[in-house]
Amino acid sequence: MSIINDPKPGTMVDTSITPVFPADFLWGAATASYQIEGAAYEDGRGLSIWDQFAAIPGKVHQGENGDVATDHYHRMPEDVALMAELGLNAYRFSIAWPRILPQGTGTVNEQGLDFYDRLVDTLLAQGITPLVTLYHWDLPLALHEKGGWLNRDTAFAFADYAEVVARRLGDRVDWWVTLNEPWCSAYLGYGTGEHAPGIRNNQSAYIAAHHLLLAHGLALPRLRTHTHQQAQLGITLNLTPVYAANDHSETLDAVEWADKMSNRWFLDPIFRGTYPEGLFADAGVAPPPIQDGDLDIIAAPIDLLGVNNYSRSLIRARVEENGAGNSTTRRYEHVAVVADSLYTEMGWEVYPRALTDVLVRVHRDYAPRAIVVTENGAAFADHWDGNDHVKDPQRVHYIREHLQALVQAQAQEVPVRGYFVWSLLDNFEWAQGYSKRFGIVYVDYPTQRRIVKDSGRWYAAFIAAQRR
Ligand code: FCB
Repeated sequence: MSIINDPKPGTMVDTSITPVFPADFLWGAATASYQIEGAAYEDGRGLSIWDQFAAIPGKVHQGENGDVATDHYHRMPEDVALMAELGLNAYRFSIAWPRILPQGTGTVNEQGLDFYDRLVDTLLAQGITPLVTLYHWDLPLALHEKGGWLNRDTAFAFADYAEVVARRLGDRVDWWVTLNEPWCSAYLGYGTGEHAPGIRNNQSAYIAAHHLLLAHGLALPRLRTHTHQQAQLGITLNLTPVYAANDHSETLDAVEWADKMSNRWFLDPIFRGTYPEGLFADAGVAPPPIQDGDLDIIAAPIDLLGVNNYSRSLIRARVEENGAGNSTTRRYEHVAVVADSLYTEMGWEVYPRALTDVLVRVHRDYAPRAIVVTENGAAFADHWDGNDHVKDPQRVHYIREHLQALVQAQAQEVPVRGYFVWSLLDNFEWAQGYSKRFGIVYVDYPTQRRIVKDSGRWYAAFIAAQRR
């Protein structure tokens, strides 16, 4: 593992990527409701599965939760001013479903809608384009109590919720993402239980995934009806390209398998209207309850694919003997440490080429009309000097290299329309609580003071150079 030392002289202003992006390219930062808003018990917000999950001892680092988070709910004008200062022309945020419908369905909480209404107006007044994510993991607890994503009704409830939001914001918001990373909602939430609601059952993960996909498909026509004709509607997937650590045929098979489990599980139904062949058998589960017509709903055309990418997977096959040695199971293992690679605080390898490769691959195999990189970024152990400075040379390096990777994809004709750094602010990193800092702006949690990190300054200079 190597560590990047101080940036080379001049790095702070080295925005040497020649302007190759169109003038209307979205340069933004991303956040999510539960991770930043706080105000968990205010203005009629209902509870979400994350409120409940975080309260269970041992689920989140040091028992932390999103009750206060970065207090964005109260500091929204200040945070938007910060975006303007950085020169961002776009901002991706998510809407907390339990703020809009505290019980998940039924009565609408106008105060919840008012908050996002104000946020959108404040952004537009600064010339910042809003990109709305309708679901970034904070399912209303009331729906969880009826089965959550294991219950097909939740998909219909989501479509109703999407319509409520679109009716209020559709006159001003043109960029819409239904779900953020349904793979995480399904697999981490229902399979491994690392995330809320903490269910550990492989079969459940596949049922939840199907209902999430259905929710996406059902929401699309509702969003179309209540947005402008030029509105761009889509979904965000976390896509991680899988590479082979050696050229043994078992490893090459394992790569295909892992790609199916992590990427094609969602890409195929959305763009091809089918689940990948053998997906369920390979996962050792029964097919989820797919009803007639579901896959047509799921595969309704979208305008944009949001891609979240942070790293790559590097794997090799491991063949295990079963019992008496007369049968074998194929498994794969991740290569955890690559010599000379830099790793982030999450333990994720910094591998910028993954971004180029994933974008080129998605374009080649699925041809979405437009792609937006809706998340890309890195956690490092940042230190605030107590004044106005946070030196984060590793994050500057990370973002610079990934923007270069974006240029490479652009050069291969991938229709990329925007790039959003994860994240605007340090925030509640799910099961890792506040221990992982992803922001280009540092948050001193005891005082809620915001300090722009070197990476934030670098990104601002980069965007300004793009506009020249
Ligand atoms: C993504 C999530 C986002 C954040 C980053 C680090 O999977 O969408 O909320 O936690 O990872």
